[in-house]
Order: sequence, then structure tokens, then C-alpha cells
Amino acid sequence: MTKSFYITTPIYYVNGAPHIGHAYTSIASDVLARFKRLDGYDVFFLTGTDEHGQKVETAARDSGLDPQAFTDRISADFRSMADAMGVSYDDYIRTTEPRHKLSSMELWRRIAASGNIYLGHYEGWYAVRDEAFYDESELETRPDGTRAAPSGAPVEWVREPSYFFRLAAWQDRLLKFYEDNPDFIAPTSRRNEVMSFVRGGLLDLSISRTTFSWGIPVPDAPGHVMYVWLDALQNYVTACGFPDERAPRWHYWPADVHVVGKDIIRFHAVYWPAFLMAAGLPVPKRISSHGWWVVEGEKMSKSLGNVIEPRKLAETYGLDQIRYFLLREKPFGADGSMSHAAIVSRINVELANDLGNLAQRSLSLIARNCGGTLPGRGPLTEDDAALLAAAAALPDAVRACMNRQTFHEALEEVWKVVRAGNGYIDRQAPWALNRTDKPRMETVLRVLADALRVIGTLLQPFMPASIGRMLDQLGVPSDARSLVALATPLPDGLALPAPQGVFPRYIEQTQ
Ligand code: MSP
Repeated sequence: MTKSFYITTPIYYVNGAPHIGHAYTSIASDVLARFKRLDGYDVFFLTGTDEHGQKVETAARDSGLDPQAFTDRISADFRSMADAMGVSYDDYIRTTEPRHKLSSMELWRRIAASGNIYLGHYEGWYAVRDEAFYDESELETRPDGTRAAPSGAPVEWVREPSYFFRLAAWQDRLLKFYEDNPDFIAPTSRRNEVMSFVRGGLLDLSISRTTFSWGIPVPDAPGHVMYVWLDALQNYVTACGFPDERAPRWHYWPADVHVVGKDIIRFHAVYWPAFLMAAGLPVPKRISSHGWWVVEGEKMSKSLGNVIEPRKLAETYGLDQIRYFLLREKPFGADGSMSHAAIVSRINVELANDLGNLAQRSLSLIARNCGGTLPGRGPLTEDDAALLAAAAALPDAVRACMNRQTFHEALEEVWKVVRAGNGYIDRQAPWALNRTDKPRMETVLRVLADALRVIGTLLQPFMPASIGRMLDQLGVPSDARSLVALATPLPDGLALPAPQGVFPRYIEQTQ
């Protein structure tokens, strides 16, 4: 039976337009989804929008639209952003859909039936921007004397009747769960933070609101809507068909990876497993978190006017170039800065010079000196064998990185072979062999073509369109681009299309 793999992005708040931070989470998830498909898995890749709560309700009111019309519009914009960025999702969930309302109400009933919900009164701090409750001890005092959440979000004092989830009672079970599942939270630094937060003691969590109505109703409790995070997290289970355990996608649950930003780990790594355990449902296998992007050293914000629109960035530099940059420039778990100079440098040095030249030099020599057909291989020298061995070891090395979501390391592994390929072509100088030793030239060019095929196969998830063109030029049929297909060599004498540059240099526009 085919192994399945279920991967999710966070669902995005529809209070404003998508920016590069959202695109980053989705592109990283997409790269992993595509890699798993290439590696033979039956993948279910979910993304969508988080449409309830006070923040969205307020944004709708500010724009003069009713919340449903407002969320329809912004959700469609997020979807078109995902399409434009090449995000190959299998389902796009919206939390205002009937399937999700049904699923969230059933989750609530199950948690309630387990005795983990009680009615009380919440009095404390709330940050609408984060849609999060904060304890007094977590707040910071700003220079003007006002209080703020650790994220910098303004907080307000809230008093309202509320249902509570008995989170405090889950402390020991959560800690045991983290200990038994050391890979549940990545990277390790975040795992340590979560564990010390939980060790510090958990408070029961307010899970319903009564001061506004834009949410999923709490079953049998007029006036209460569910806390938006309870409804939001449940999207991952809804998409598998919950509560219908015979639904065609039910077998995907529990998720293999929830990809999330560092700001929303607590919700995913603490509240979410506790809700699920209370409801008697299986818990996801991994929460993989990433750091944040700043722009030219500054935090993105509407007031600074430096919010980056992902579709514009792709228009300026090329979609594959941006996908590559985002995953190469910084380690996944760490923060990083995006700048014009850094993007241009990645494009010109790594894509155009390193990879583009290797492919272009090899393919144009094949076109010119081998009649445009794939040459065969004669006896191998040590140098040939070394390059082929490095290429052959690459799929396992990249797979190991992908399983840890260390995308920049996966690319570094590939680039080691790209650089080795450039060293090899310089040493072997096949252009000079054309007159002196044609069979040897053919072997060298075939070794290069074989190494490029492995490189290309592994780079497809990162840069699907450009690498697709590179594999076309290498003569790799579209049904022979998976990892397992690498075991079957391409036939000698295969006719290749005329080579064309795949990775152009970025040339500065002069006014
Ligand atoms: N709606 C919640 C998620 C619910 S999941 C059950 C939410 N939405 S969000 O739209 O605010 O953020 C979605 C994702 O975008 C988060 O993973 C967040 O980390 C990411 N990013 C937002 N700004 C970012 C950067 N500047 N850089 C990188 N990622 C950032 O939270």
C-alpha cells in the first residue's frame, strides 16, 4: 500500500491582504508536499483561511462590509496568491464552510462529554491582534505606561461569561507526551521553550466568547461563540471528513506535519494536542516551526509601508527564483532578512552561475558535439566515479533534510554536487576532447548529464517550472522524474531538444 503523508499550512486570517510571510509558510509546506509526492507518498496537502473571531469581524466592519462578504473577498485573494506562488494544495478550507461548522461543534461535544469543559467567568487580558489570552505575568509595560503582549500586540481587559477547557489538568500528560515524542516539536530550541512553558504550570483556557457573534456557535449555549483558535485548529481534522470516519480522507489523520510560524507554536503544541486527547482523537506527529522574515532589516508593517506583496516579488525576480531564495537564504527555524541585494546575489551566483552554467555548458556541448543525442558511457575514471557517487548519495541526503524540514541544508547538499560538477567539467575540459578523444568526451558529457538528472530531480519541489524545463532538455520523460525513476538510466542515443538557458542573470534596471 502507498504510504500517506498529510501536511498542512496554518490557515490565514482574512483581516488583510496576503504578504510574503504568509507566502513563505505556504511555499515551504509546498516544497515538502512536492518532495513527498516525488518520493512515492500519497500526499494530502491542505491550506486555507481562518475566518472567524474578533479581529476579522472588526476588519470587516472597518471596511464597511458584512463579515461573510468580506471574508469571501479576502479568502479568494489568499487562494489566488497560493495559486500564483505555485502552492500545490489538494484542498482549500475555509472555516466559514458548513462542513467546518459541523466538525467544530462535534469536537466541542466530544470534549464536553469527556468532562473537560465547564462554565465560568473570564476576567483578564486579551490581545485581539493575536487572538490570545495572556496572563498578567506575561505582559510588558511600554514606555507610555500601557500594557502589551510579548508579541507587541495591544491588550484589553475582558470580563465575560465563558466556557473553560481544563487545560491545567493536562500538564503532566502533555509533558509525558513531549518526552515520549522527541520529534513532536521542531526545532529543538522551540521544543525546549514549549516544555518549560508547560512545566511552569498551565491555566484553564477560556474557549468561548460572548461579546461578539462572528464565530461558530457553542452547542446548546445561546450567546456563546467558540474561541477562534479552537475552531481554527479543528480545520485540520475537518478536512479529513470528521466526524465521518468512513470519509475518503479520514485515513490521513493524524497529520504528519503542521508547518507553523514561531508565533503560533503554543496554540499548536500545547492547546491542540490537549483538545485532541480530551476528544479521544489521535494527535498530529509533528509541529515544525519557522522563523520570521524582516525586510531590509526592518519588521514588515503597514505603517512603514514595507509590506511585501508576494505576487509582485515573483513578477520582479521570477517565481522559482523567489521560492529558491526563501528556502535557501536562512535556516528554516531562524529569523532572516530579505533584501534586494541578497535576492540578486542568490539568483546570479547560485542559480545563473553555478547551476545554470553547469547545465548550459553540458547541454550545449552535447548539442554541438554529440549530434543532440545523449551519449553513452565508456570506462569510468576515478573522477567520473566520484561525481556519480556524490550524485547517487544525494537523494538520501536530501530526504533526511526534508524529513527534518532543514530546507537550506537540503539545498546545500544539492549545491555541493553542483559545485563538484563545475569542478569536474573544468578539469575534464570536454570541449578540448572533441578533437583528441571523442569517446572520452562522450563519457564525460554523459557523466555530467546523469549527475544533472539527479540534481534536477531533487530540485523540482523547489523550482517546479524552471527545473521542469531543465529536465525536458535532459530528455527525462515526465513519467520518469520521481526519485525511484532515478534507478533506470536514460537510453543512450536519446534525442534531446535544443538547449536553452534556464536561469537568466538578474540585470539591474538603470533609469
Ligand atoms: N490564523 C492563524 C493561524 C491558525 S492555524 C490553525 C494565524 N494566521 S496569520 O495569517 O496571522 O499567520 C499565518 C502564518 O504566517 C503564521 O505561521 C505566521 O508565522 C506567518 N507569518 C506572518 N508574518 C510573517 C513574517 N513576517 N515572516 C514569516 N512568517 C510570518 O496566525
